[in-house]
Amino acid sequence: KNIAIIMGGYSSEYGISMKSGNVVHKYLNPDKYHAYRLIISKEKWFYLDKDDNEFPVDRADFSISPNGQKIHFDCVFNAIHGTPGEDGLMQAYFELLGIPHTSCNHYESALTFNKRDLLSTLKPYAVPCAISYHLNKGQQVDGDAIVEKVGLPCFVKANRAGSSYGVSKVYRKEELHAAIESAFKEDDQVIIESFLEGTEVSVGVITFKGEVTVLPITEIISENDFFDFEAKYQGKSQEITPARINEAQEQNVRKLAEFIYKTLGLKGYTRSEFIFIGDVPHLLEVNTTPGLTEESLLPQQARTAGISLEELFDSAIEEALR
Ligand code: DAL
Ligand code: MG
Repeated sequence: KNIAIIMGGYSSEYGISMKSGNVVHKYLNPDKYHAYRLIISKEKWFYLDKDDNEFPVDRADFSISPNGQKIHFDCVFNAIHGTPGEDGLMQAYFELLGIPHTSCNHYESALTFNKRDLLSTLKPYAVPCAISYHLNKGQQVDGDAIVEKVGLPCFVKANRAGSSYGVSKVYRKEELHAAIESAFKEDDQVIIESFLEGTEVSVGVITFKGEVTVLPITEIISENDFFDFEAKYQGKSQEITPARINEAQEQNVRKLAEFIYKTLGLKGYTRSEFIFIGDVPHLLEVNTTPGLTEESLLPQQARTAGISLEELFDSAIEEALR
């Protein structure tokens, strides 16, 4: 089978996605799959061969013709974080073309990537989360109203972004404007959330061999003030799998993560973040194309569950083709 691994993307997470895509490329079983690296960047879409030669992608049918002969793909392995790979755009394109892909469908991708809409969709199910305030670009910033609603300290985040790009922890009202401005560099929507103080955990939920499976839970201890980019990718954190949480916390968070996956109709592999207030997990977000770099959490969780990366990626493609 011909598999297109798409990587790159249009957001700040380009570099992380290139790493994720290359890990997928490294571990896809060569006896079973012909894997092609397809770089989706703002400037161009191209196939990158093993000698780093570039060949353009025909966007009309998502094919390549490196030797004059057209190659079509049986499946797309999506390793793009951020837009257009995590927000439903690429998904909608592949769904129009009838090409199976490893991620959630376009609507569920768009919904989960939008932190505000994710949380408000889950509200009727009483899923615990932070108190939040939403801003669109151009809207008047009322610092008093924000602080009154979410309190201090608070988190200012780009509403649709990942890897902590555009995220700041704000301690004083005077810092709000700069933090909001920095978040607007990543997205034209901003979400400001109350600070949840407690143990942070990350929960992988995947469909593995046809079964919705919750992977071993990771506890995150950041050396920085929060789990920022440096903590995520430059070793400034401890990630402990399985998490040192009590039985009730473990049961609660597993149940909630699986409930969210099933209720939203998610597919493939996902990873959600929670913070415990007592034994109650509060949802921060759901990632539908979680990082697959060597430092990333989902690969660690899979390994702890005794699932190799080869098996994990193979299962993702099997699920997409099912
Ligand atoms: N957004 C990053 C890649 C993650 O969720 O792992
Ligand atoms: Mg994220």
